[in-house]
Amino acid sequence: MCHAADMTTYQEYLEEAVVAAGIAGRYQKSRFASTLNIEMKGDKDLVTEVDKESERLIVEHLLSCFPDHDIVAEEGDYAQGGSPCRWIIDPVDGTTNYAHGFPWFCCSIGLEMSGEMVAGVIYNPVYDELFTATKGGGAYLNGKRLSVSASSPLKNSLLGTGFPYDCATDPANNFANFIAFQKKARGIRRAGAAALDLAYVAAGRLDGFWELKLKAWDVAAGVLLVREAGGTVTSFDGSSFDIFSGRIVASNGQIHEEMVSMLALVASTGAE
Ligand code: IPD
Ligand code: CA
Ligand code: CA
Repeated sequence: MCHAADMTTYQEYLEEAVVAAGIAGRYQKSRFASTLNIEMKGDKDLVTEVDKESERLIVEHLLSCFPDHDIVAEEGDYAQGGSPCRWIIDPVDGTTNYAHGFPWFCCSIGLEMSGEMVAGVIYNPVYDELFTATKGGGAYLNGKRLSVSASSPLKNSLLGTGFPYDCATDPANNFANFIAFQKKARGIRRAGAAALDLAYVAAGRLDGFWELKLKAWDVAAGVLLVREAGGTVTSFDGSSFDIFSGRIVASNGQIHEEMVSMLALVASTGAE
């Protein structure tokens, strides 16, 4: 059933998402750097057997607890039953890293309730770092309360970003934004897992993050983490963020205006 209206009830959902993330994370770690079946979804976009099995494990656990809930996940098509509760899942965020034996990946599980994110879990099994948040209940790393950094202005800030898989063929590729931010900010990391980038903004390890063409499963849990850690999340133009919109700016709040202004400046040249 899905009648949650308070934090205590969100906590029950969070606990099951943590169990699912633990199951998937342990499995991912056990298969890491082993020989994998890999399929190409596009020119650069790949999927491994571990992505698919992780998703199966996560969905199996969540539906065993909440059989009426809907599922949206990267690797499968799930019939939508019209439930107000919808789990939004990236079974492996950082698949390219995973497939290359580069130990930087996570699983991301978010619960949307009547259009609002209310619970989120991001688990990095290599570091055994579990990032969790519930709406109104704060953000945590392995049980310790998180808050965003206080870094400002932009020139003193460390940012994260990424590039879409079709960056060679579509000019909406983030290259111009990257150059502009690289000139202005202290540094940029392109680590390859958007969900972990967002968790790192929540943890104050990154001061800001932006990216375009992201999917709901890349950002669902991370957006809640950043907000619950006191940060700001908007679209590129500073307007309210929709997890299905693709363009995200997430920051400690202090540098948000500068980031939005920079994106507007680049957009005014016709590039991005
Ligand atoms: C990708 C990662 C990457 C981002 C890509 C995403 P995947 O997700 O989050 O950092 O730049 O846009 O698609 O394919 O590893 O789940
Ligand atoms: Ca992803
Ligand atoms: Ca993925």
